[in-house]
Amino acid sequence: MSQKHQTLGEFIIEHQSSFKYTSGELSRLINSIRLAAKVVNYEVNKAGLVDILGTAGDTNVQGEDQQKLDVYANEKFIQTLVNRNIVCGIASEEEDSFIAINSNDQNHQNKYIVLMDPLDGSSNIDVNVSVGTIFSIYRRVTPVGTPVQEEDFLQKGSEQVAAGYIIYGTSTMLVYTTGDGVNGFTLNPAIGTFYLSHPRMQFPEHGTIYSVNEGNYIHFPQGIKNYLKYCQMEEGDRPYTSRYIGSLVSDFHRNMIKGGIYLYPTSSKNPNGKLRLLYECNPMAFIAEQANGKASDGFSRIMDITPTELHQRVPFICGSSAMVDKAEDFMRDSQSS
Ligand code: AHG
Ligand code: MN
Ligand code: MN
Repeated sequence: MSQKHQTLGEFIIEHQSSFKYTSGELSRLINSIRLAAKVVNYEVNKAGLVDILGTAGDTNVQGEDQQKLDVYANEKFIQTLVNRNIVCGIASEEEDSFIAINSNDQNHQNKYIVLMDPLDGSSNIDVNVSVGTIFSIYRRVTPVGTPVQEEDFLQKGSEQVAAGYIIYGTSTMLVYTTGDGVNGFTLNPAIGTFYLSHPRMQFPEHGTIYSVNEGNYIHFPQGIKNYLKYCQMEEGDRPYTSRYIGSLVSDFHRNMIKGGIYLYPTSSKNPNGKLRLLYECNPMAFIAEQANGKASDGFSRIMDITPTELHQRVPFICGSSAMVDKAEDFMRDSQSS
């Protein structure tokens, strides 16, 4: 990559003033995520060489096996945000409850909270397939200087001030939005700098890729089954092609660039879906909408859901808007018939 690209650091400074709250706090927060991303990237890249593959021997609060890299990424992101004294609270997929920072310091003026999935696509770690990190940023709703409360974290996705992901892929990218479009930055590992490589990312309106774990097919709701049959039917630009990596970040990233739809519906195994509203669905929905795409639970907008618990799961359909509209049509039709 040539040096003519703007660096992420330059981009953050240039765009700081266009953000509606201009204290610089959000810029410093994005900067610390950038730092943690580089640290985790370094570890992910040499994962096969050091003793960091495999399970950590523990399960998280959702009963899932924690991988060593899950734990490592979780620690690094939390450590970076805490050390830089940049947020008042953090919630993570890998933590039982939210973390209140400097909760006894009344002079603590930090306004932002972060929710994250520190390592997305854990099942792919051991086999050298792309994984990611997802983050979501809100302003607290309780008064500054008091300890954060659960209500600060249980905000609708539409209240997000920023969201993004890091993809540790063939190259490492940081993609994020502050509500003014989506921009992607690629890491030059030789000098440890992210450069703006994908300005103003947009989902194509239509696409021809569908991403779903079809192994769960027989357990899917009828509307999803009908939609998948529609994807496979020969007509016009169909049959669509199927691509499923099993890392939401990677499947989403490909679909945003090429045009496609990602589905993780309810099933008898996962009656509420598998993906987490606060750590995965809301941030991806915010990015999708900012990139001309759409995110739905099958019937309504993901970002309009009022969360009731930190680790809440929801069905998730996300991608090119015309494709999500079509999937919703099938869901509605099967409900009414
Ligand atoms: P995580 O690794 O954070 O638990 O998330 C895994 C998620 C998501 O990234 C992926 O799309 C999906 O789970 C894969 O689930 P299946 O293996 O059930 O298809
Ligand atoms: Mn995940
Ligand atoms: Mn995870």
